Amino acid sequence: MFSPTLTILGVLFFGGLGLCKLYEDVADLPSLQYDYVVVGGGTAGNVVANRLTENPDVSVLVLEAGPSNEGVLVSEVPFLGNDLLAPTGPYSWNYTTTPQTGLNSRAISYARGYLLGGCSSHNGMVYSRGAKDDFDRYAKLTGDEGWSWDQIFPYFLKTEKWTPPADHHDTRGQFNPSIHGTAGRISVSLSGFQWPDFQRRIIQTTEELPHDFPFNLDMNSGQPLGVGWIQSTIGHGERSSSATGYLEPNFIQRPNLDVLLHAKVSKLVNVTQHQGKPRFGGVQFRYGTSLFIAEASKEIILSAGAINTPQVLLNSGVGDHSTLKALGIPTVMDLPSVGKNSSDHSVLPLTWAVNSNDTAESITQNATRFNEASEQWNTSRTGPFVFALAGTHAGWLRLSPDSPVFDIHPDPSPGPGAPHFEFLFLPSGVNMPGHFITLLLALVSPVSRGSITISSDPFADPLINPAYLGSEFDAIALREGVKLAEKFFNAPAWHGYLGAPAINLAAMNATEQVATIRANVVSGSHMVGTASMSPRDATYGVVNPDLTVKGIAGLRVIDASVLPIVPGAHTQAATYAVAERGADLVKQTRAT
Ligand SMILES: Cc1cc2nc3c(=O)[nH]c(=O)nc-3n(C[C@H](O)[C@H](O)[C@H](O)COP(=O)(O)OP(=O)(O)OC[C@H]3O[C@@H](n4cnc5c(N)ncnc54)[C@H](O)[C@@H]3O)c2cc1C
Ligand SMILES: *[C@@H]1O[C@H](CO)[C@@H](O)[C@H](O)[C@H]1NC(C)=O
Ligand SMILES: *[C@@H]1O[C@H](CO)[C@@H](O)[C@H](O)[C@H]1NC(C)=O
Ligand SMILES: *[C@@H]1O[C@H](CO)[C@@H](O)[C@H](O)[C@H]1NC(C)=O
Ligand SMILES: *[C@@H]1O[C@H](CO)[C@@H](O)[C@H](O)[C@H]1NC(C)=O
Ligand SMILES: *[C@@H]1O[C@H](CO)[C@@H](O)[C@H](O)[C@H]1NC(C)=O
Ligand SMILES: *[C@@H]1O[C@H](CO)[C@@H](O)[C@H](O)[C@H]1NC(C)=O
Ligand SMILES: *[C@@H]1O[C@H](CO)[C@@H](O)[C@H](O)[C@H]1NC(C)=O
Repeated sequence: MFSPTLTILGVLFFGGLGLCKLYEDVADLPSLQYDYVVVGGGTAGNVVANRLTENPDVSVLVLEAGPSNEGVLVSEVPFLGNDLLAPTGPYSWNYTTTPQTGLNSRAISYARGYLLGGCSSHNGMVYSRGAKDDFDRYAKLTGDEGWSWDQIFPYFLKTEKWTPPADHHDTRGQFNPSIHGTAGRISVSLSGFQWPDFQRRIIQTTEELPHDFPFNLDMNSGQPLGVGWIQSTIGHGERSSSATGYLEPNFIQRPNLDVLLHAKVSKLVNVTQHQGKPRFGGVQFRYGTSLFIAEASKEIILSAGAINTPQVLLNSGVGDHSTLKALGIPTVMDLPSVGKNSSDHSVLPLTWAVNSNDTAESITQNATRFNEASEQWNTSRTGPFVFALAGTHAGWLRLSPDSPVFDIHPDPSPGPGAPHFEFLFLPSGVNMPGHFITLLLALVSPVSRGSITISSDPFADPLINPAYLGSEFDAIALREGVKLAEKFFNAPAWHGYLGAPAINLAAMNATEQVATIRANVVSGSHMVGTASMSPRDATYGVVNPDLTVKGIAGLRVIDASVLPIVPGAHTQAATYAVAERGADLVKQTRAT
């Protein structure tokens, strides 16, 4: 427990920390009055802070709840990334979902990064942009062509710094250089370590079954369908995150940018009226056991992510009036969509034992090789430790157009160029002796919609209900995905290689398969939509297409929560694009 002491600090004595502008202690912060206060130093927040402070006349404070990413080895070393994904840990929000009706009432772990860089400091590093159809649907749902693929494409390039892989292998035939950026802040590369026995079979399958599983040279062209090589947010053997990229020393040292760590925001305060709209003047946060308020004279920007942004809005009285009233929170703006309409990917891990030693277990289960790999990374940033365990290849695939599952619900995908499924191919498996491969089968076009709600304590965990497999369509579609996976691994390429499956779905009837799917699905960790964009005049939605919160002055949401529907992709590339465009939208507002 803590006893709140409410303090507004004026300009304090400068902490004497020289050029270090990453503040560990609130007492060292030179001021609590800024033009912009960004809530959350995560994937999107650090982009916004970087871009706004390009103008030396603008001051920005970032409030981040977690610790620094600096020197966090498990965040830097791609191969060790999974260590960050334990159900609890020092760099995790330690979240668990509510019991999921679609998952036999299981409450499952929901990972979120609790360190500077947010999820970009702990995610699987897969770099995938999504389909042209995803973004063209965003344009349609928002009434703003600025969210269409063609207009977002330059923002993908602006984020990206294409980088040769750590092993400098010949990358011809593994990606399309013409669709990549070379001058951005986030390094993107093909894997710098190879698993030849596994990779060869994946590519061979695209040759043996080209109709179902065509090879796709580059899944980031807007036409992701097919199977191709994974690109990762890794540069020179290290993770590239919004913290390493957008807050690197020459940015963090800008005199107009301050970042405070260990600062947990509870709510927005100090409501005044501004041109007939309520406007929040301050951001309340807890540092240690005390409460503080940081003031924003121009705008407050919420970048706390799809779980915490709606939580902060609801704590502040922005949300469904009757829900807020029941919690004793005075309504500042009745916006029923806050926290609603979340969408996320459901993931079914399918693991097989394999007749090969060329898997990650050859390192994770052999202390000698593990230490050699660690030593090699330490000295040269090469070897197995540059490999992100999220996989070597991905497939983006569709349900068959005549699948009976469309009798349950019309096609939820945004168009014929977008996937229903992702296949993520991992040269690793369960944590037991032996050698394994895994297919992470994800349903990337879900029908189910979930929600984020709160309890009355603003510092308590929000209630996270992704509603995985809440719609019958989603469960049956995943079963169709299992059939597709069986087709893939029945190709001649895998003969003599695949051993026993961890779960023998092929031996089950349809009813048992669905039950097994419900018992084994895990979170895809790609939630969006909880502060969704909608057209300016819509009666639903949370933000306008320019990311301003509806009915409120001086407040925007810039993070994954604004995407109306989860894309058929891992979500960091889309989040970076939202952040880059969001920063431009803020700048344009100031200019007019
Ligand atoms: C386990 C996992 C693996 C993933 N793998 C991939 C992948 O391989 N590829 C991919 O593209 N995407 C992946 N994603 C998804 C992707 O990383 C996220 O969608 C994206 O990074 C979200 O960015 P964001 O800015 O919306 O939120 P975040 O990056 O989560 O940023 C929010 C920030 O706000 C801070 N914060 C939250 N609440 C408060 C508060 N009250 N006060 C102060 N600070 C606060 C958080 O600590 C965090 O730093 C993964 C996600 C997870 C969880
Ligand atoms: C999560 O739990 C770990 C202990 O396992 C702790 O160190 C960390 O601070 C917790 N995270 C939060 C956000 O409370
Ligand atoms: C801002 O809000 C806090 C808490 O709600 C209050 O204590 C403080 O007096 C307010 N400050 C101003 C300037 O209104
Ligand atoms: C959810 O989104 C849809 C559009 O995709 C919209 O019609 C509906 O009103 C939204 N519901 C809420 C509660 O926001
Ligand atoms: C794997 O390694 C073990 C021990 O080094 C060896 O006996 C075995 O033959 C190898 N198996 C394969 C398939 O290469
Ligand atoms: C572990 O790795 C070492 C060094 O590469 C190798 O000599 C040894 O055979 C490996 N052990 C097993 C059980 O594979
Ligand atoms: C590599 O460096 C890290 C961090 O300094 C250290 O913990 C680890 O032991 C080193 N590995 C080896 C094999 O020396
Ligand atoms: C599926 O198998 C279960 C037993 O494992 C059985 O009870 C059920 O009737 C079977 N269903 C169908 C449709 O065959």
